[in-house]
Amino acid sequence: MKFFVDTADVEAIRELHDLGMVDGVTTNPSLILKSGRDILEVTREICSFVSGPVSAEVVGLKADEMIAEGRKLAEIAPNIAVKVPLTWDGLKACKILSDEGKMVNVTLCFSANQALIAAKAGATFISPFIGRLDDINLDGLELISDIRQIYDNYGFETQILAASIRTANHVTQCALIGADVMTAPPSVIKALAAHVLTDKGIDQFMKDWAKTGQKIL
Ligand code: E4P
Repeated sequence: MKFFVDTADVEAIRELHDLGMVDGVTTNPSLILKSGRDILEVTREICSFVSGPVSAEVVGLKADEMIAEGRKLAEIAPNIAVKVPLTWDGLKACKILSDEGKMVNVTLCFSANQALIAAKAGATFISPFIGRLDDINLDGLELISDIRQIYDNYGFETQILAASIRTANHVTQCALIGADVMTAPPSVIKALAAHVLTDKGIDQFMKDWAKTGQKIL
């Protein structure tokens, strides 16, 4: 499973990138706001060291606006994935931009039918939002599983990009289901390394090591 990092915080991306944890990046208008940066400038900086897909989201609501914005965003670097919302206009924009050879990430997906229609429109990535479904007491992971089965049934090449990931368990389950990609905030990616028994084990080893009176260096 590929790891995308869901942030526009360049330093956080760089830290994970240096560890080989970044196969790509996803951003959205809220993450751009949080970064306090200009969208074109920060996206260009991210693309200067991340070679995998970097999603940059359009904000127009009409297909022609999305297409114009998508073309401008795609000029930033060849690895830009234009992110469009899963609306009828978004699907029109997806079809035209993907026919032009641009990567398109169709976002804000909350149903299997939405994922099916995005694949028909030529999406490179479909982004089902797990956490936001869980927030309203629906099963986000079940959606990932349903999309996996539908795409496999018909050989769709659209990659399932599991998004709105909030917990380490979401990551495990997405990997078991077979999501192609997951995108998570840096805090969730770092949490994958944590285990209470690891901490307990280190604590015991440190106590015993101190009793030996030895040094390695
Ligand atoms: C995905 O591309 C989105 O940017 C993101 O995963 C949304 O996550 P949230 O629901 O935690 O805001």
